[in-house]
Parts: sequence; C-alpha cells; structure tokens
Amino acid sequence: MRRKAYKIHKTRLRRHCVGLGENMSEAVSPAIAAMEGRGFYNRNSAMQAAGNATALALWEKAAQSVELGEETLVIADYGSSQGVNSMEPVSTAIRVLRSRVGEDRMVEVIHTDLPSNDFTSLFTALSDNPDSYMAGRSGIFPSAIGRTYFEGLMPPGRVHLGWNSWTIQWMSRNPIDAPDHAFAMRSKLPEIQEAVVEQQARDWRNFLELRSRELRPGGWLLSLFPGGRPDRLGWEWLTGELWEVFCDMRRGGVFSDHELALINVPTAPRRLADVYAPFSKEKQFAGLQIEHAEIQPGPDIHWDDFKRSGDATKLAGGWTGMMRGFSGPTIMNCIDPARDRAALVDEIFSRFADRLAANPQPHEHFIAIVLLSKTRAAT
Ligand SMILES: C[S@@+](CC[C@H](N)C(=O)[O-])C[C@H]1O[C@@H](n2cnc3c(N)ncnc32)[C@H](O)[C@@H]1O
Repeated sequence: MRRKAYKIHKTRLRRHCVGLGENMSEAVSPAIAAMEGRGFYNRNSAMQAAGNATALALWEKAAQSVELGEETLVIADYGSSQGVNSMEPVSTAIRVLRSRVGEDRMVEVIHTDLPSNDFTSLFTALSDNPDSYMAGRSGIFPSAIGRTYFEGLMPPGRVHLGWNSWTIQWMSRNPIDAPDHAFAMRSKLPEIQEAVVEQQARDWRNFLELRSRELRPGGWLLSLFPGGRPDRLGWEWLTGELWEVFCDMRRGGVFSDHELALINVPTAPRRLADVYAPFSKEKQFAGLQIEHAEIQPGPDIHWDDFKRSGDATKLAGGWTGMMRGFSGPTIMNCIDPARDRAALVDEIFSRFADRLAANPQPHEHFIAIVLLSKTRAAT
C-alpha cells in the first residue's frame, strides 16, 4: 500500500527545523527493524522491565482465571525481543498454572517477534540466565516464531495465556513521513497526527482480532504498552531531545532536509479512549471481553537513581541505552546505505547522551495495561 504523500509549505517546516526538499512529497522511510541486536536490548530495557512488574498482579489473575483441561498448556509471548523481560511473566504464569493442575503438566512457551529479531540472545538467555523460566523446571518447551503478529501466527484456539508487553506502540507500517519530527505523533501538523491515530486504530483492531482467534475459549491476554493521558502523551523530554540532535546535525550539515524527513520511528502511545474504541459498551470486541484497562504513570527508574546519586552521566547513559535499544536499528534503516550508517547512529546517540547529561530531567511517561478474556461462546 502506498504511503500518503504530503506537500507542506516550506515556512511551516522551517519553524520545526526541517525545510522542504524538492522530492519531499515522495519521501518514504523504510521498514521497521527489531531492537538493537547482540543482546543490547536485554541490557538496556530496565524501564520496560519495571513497567512489566506493575502488571504482574493482573497477569496472575489471568493465570488463575484461564480455563484449563487436560491438555498441554500454551503460553504465547507476543513481541518477546531478546527475552530477558519475558522471564518473570512467563515464570509467574507457569507457577500459577501448575499450582492449579500439578507440577508435572507440560507447558509450551511460544515467543514471537519480527524476523529481524535477535533470537540468538533469546535462546541464550533461556539456557544461561539464572532468572530463566526454564531454570529448575522440567517439562517446559520453548519455541519461537519470526513473523509479524499483524498476521495469524498460530492455529485457532491454541493459546491459553498471551503476554504482550511494550510492542503494540510499533505500527505495522510507517503511515507517513513526518518532516518535522522523528516521531510522527510529535509532529505539529494535524494531518500527520491524524495519519498516526488512524494507523494505530487499524493496528489495534487487527491485533485484537488475530489474537482472539489464537486464544482458546476461556483464554486470557494481557497487553501492556505506552499510554497517553487525554492532555499529555508523555515522552516529551526524550523524544524532544532526540529530535534536537537531528536538528543540530542538520544545521551542522551532517544531514540534509530530505534525509531528516526520512528518519521516522513509527511508534505512538494510545489513550484510554483509543483502547476502548473497538469495544461495545459491554466492553466486547471480536470475542474478547475487557476485564481491566487503565493508564498509569510509568516508573522513572533512572531519575529515582539520579536523585540518590546526582550522577547525570549515569542518568544520560541509562536513557540513551533505552532509546537506542528500541529506535537505533530503525533509525539506521532510515539512513542512506551509501553513508556510514553505523558511525552516524553512534554519533546520534553520543550527542543525545551529551544533551541529556547537560540537562537532566524526569522522564514522564504512561503505561496502558489491558487485560482481556476470550468469551466461551466465541470460536
Ligand atoms: C520494546 S520491545 C519489547 C520486548 C519485551 N516484550 C519487553 O517487555 O521488554 C518491542 C518488540 O516488539 C517487536 N515488534 C514490533 N512490531 C512487531 C510486529 N509487528 N510483530 C512482532 N513483533 C513486533 C520488536 O521487534 C521488539 O522486539
């Protein structure tokens, strides 16, 4: 499908750092990439882990409530990345499920992610990480699927429990190249914001329909992702500083206007109204029932540490690792392969760390947690 092309007046863009290149209306940034590889995401995702911890009580409720028979139990982990943050939720699920049906019940754990994901780090963590859900257990069978979850991944009615954390903010495709920000949701241009909201709405419905098919009747799914308040989306500081880095590099002649317009990280939070949008007033959609939905403030782990230590370099390093971990490979994909892309990405994040260290601030962000069950009547 062709992305929307926009012709936007030059002076409007200059105000937001980027001028309009001659071929701006044809700008199309390339595909979304998985997280920074060679275990980098595993080492730099403490914020995501802290967010996941806030959902564990609800996840236990799901494991207590899912309908179980005599069959092998199936836990799906949609968007596992390199696995370190899956250990605790999967371990929790196994513990609760086996407490209900016996310690010798076989459990299959299916991790899914994009084909470009670093699955080697996932399987290494499964065997070597002391917190692995495999440690000290037998009868657990992990596997992985390298395919987008915007397609069906498993036969219908296969999954008892689905875990999905920090992934669905990624759009299935970049709907539009924003010329005035690397995160299109931050664009000042209403037509660009609308394109993001539309894409997110389509993806949410599609994701729910596909996951509902894969769940067994009586199965449960937990989805956790960046949320937004009606008046604020959060992430203003970190995304704003990253954009300022790009603007500095453009002013210094490192990137042209056109190159900058092609740098897009297609992620965006959802507000509670966006979460509920597909659901009826009885909170039902596609055979799924909302059991719980909330948007809560996200933990600010590096700020808490900074308040104790006063170490701005450490704070900057923590957030730089997190931002690079999720956005670095997609940014690299957006840069002309004829250039030294690896060196440019290093430079981007080195400048980013310097900016953060010079002006340390709290990172305000919100987390959406949605707990769903598949109704018995649904097929
Ligand atoms: C920030 S990581 C989250 C990893 C882990 N669940 C956690 O809680 O830390 C986001 C993951 O979503 C994956 N992802 C993004 N879009 C996806 C898609 N369409 N299908 C499958 N995985 C996707 C990315 O490749 C990445 O590994």
